[in-house]
Amino acid sequence: MSKVKTSFFCQSCGTQHAQWQGQCNSCKQWNTLTEEVMEKPDKKNWKTEKKASTISKPLKINQIEISSESRIDTGDAELNRVLGGGIIPGALMLLGGEPGIGKSTLLLQIAITVGCKVLYVSGEESQRQIKIRSDRMDTSSDQCYVLSETKTQNIFSQIETLAPELVVIDSVQTLHTDYIDSSPGSVSQIKECTAEFIKFAKETHVPVFLVGHITKDGQIAGPKILEHMVDVVLHFEGDRNHIYRILRTQKNRFGATSEIGIYEMQSKGLRAVSNPSELLISEKDEKLSGHAIAATIEGIRPLMIEIQALVSTAVYGTPQRTTTGYNTKRLNMLLAVLEKRAGFALGAKDVFINITGGISIADPAIDLAVVVAILSSYHDIDVSENFCFAAEVGLSGEIRPVPKTEQRIQEASKLGFDTIVISKFAKIGKQNESIKVLAVSKIEALISALFG
Ligand code: TYD
Ligand code: MG
Repeated sequence: MSKVKTSFFCQSCGTQHAQWQGQCNSCKQWNTLTEEVMEKPDKKNWKTEKKASTISKPLKINQIEISSESRIDTGDAELNRVLGGGIIPGALMLLGGEPGIGKSTLLLQIAITVGCKVLYVSGEESQRQIKIRSDRMDTSSDQCYVLSETKTQNIFSQIETLAPELVVIDSVQTLHTDYIDSSPGSVSQIKECTAEFIKFAKETHVPVFLVGHITKDGQIAGPKILEHMVDVVLHFEGDRNHIYRILRTQKNRFGATSEIGIYEMQSKGLRAVSNPSELLISEKDEKLSGHAIAATIEGIRPLMIEIQALVSTAVYGTPQRTTTGYNTKRLNMLLAVLEKRAGFALGAKDVFINITGGISIADPAIDLAVVVAILSSYHDIDVSENFCFAAEVGLSGEIRPVPKTEQRIQEASKLGFDTIVISKFAKIGKQNESIKVLAVSKIEALISALFG
């Protein structure tokens, strides 16, 4: 019998070490190295024998044929857009997210609505449990096959007899292959099982979705190399206490990574939110101070969001600066600008910022709305609900232009806002929208226009 090769892998970053040591050389974590069997000597492919005809040969790039229906429609407009127009045949897509966020629900829903033969493999739930979930979502399909299995060789043999057009694996951490001895979820198992699925996807052009668990700091569990191996990395996120879920791309070999998809978790599964702006702006029946609407852009889609601010006198010695969905450092910068350039003594005030709907926004174009919300709360004067804002605020109090201003104006006009405040330096063509565009260059000018 030939020798079994073993090595020591860091369970945190996946670095391989020749011998055991207390600290990982690469990520400097302690006690993360474990011994894993590298591979058994009689390693085989996902197909036991490889025919000579399937060995890949070099081709001229202009000779490679791609079929006309190159992308598969998932039946879900949000997912289609996030993937860049649908699923590319042969793509390996990794979906990560916190436990209970709805990964299994999303993929089961896709498996049912996609309209082609799908094999949904779960290593976490039994077939009956999956059926209970689909009954709960009140959907069904006669092309969706369900398998409860964790061994890759058994999965591949089922795939060979069933010949599905899409495979879903829930989750990669439960898989194990015969060729590696370590336990499911260990670095070498995850790497090897993913590699087997990549080989399968590339050879048969069947796309595969893998669900990946994440660690406590939000990374997909397992080696970082996993994210390099796959074609698409999606993140499903959101606050579990809110109903909104956001699907983001972190990596996409076939499309933009700036797209987001918004879903609502309902008692009957996930529902795609096609017009998020209307939902993200809360309904009010009286005028309230401390609210301002920002016109932001996520990916290519304009989104109107509501910023809420509360400014109150600090009870403790050190004033609190708390934000939900907004960067605290950026808030501190804006407060410093307001203090220095506009003379507001906010140093002794508590300032709280909240973006409604539980989403977080990194677009600097919401700066102006944050400033307006803070000042509105400070003066206790409400800002007209027909106003919205789209500009960045610079360190000297200047109001700076942001990309795609025209699109923001169009969205604001479509949603019935009267006035949009933008930077004087934004380059926009002639507008034929009904909305009034107010161009300002300095924060002081805006303050006197809004609060007198
Ligand atoms: P799930 O898809 O099991 O999460 P994950 O696979 O990411 O761990 O989602 C489970 C949560 O979603 C659970 O807390 C219940 C909720 N849920 C609904 O609100 N409505 C539904 O129709 C379903 C199926 C789940
Ligand atoms: Mg799950």
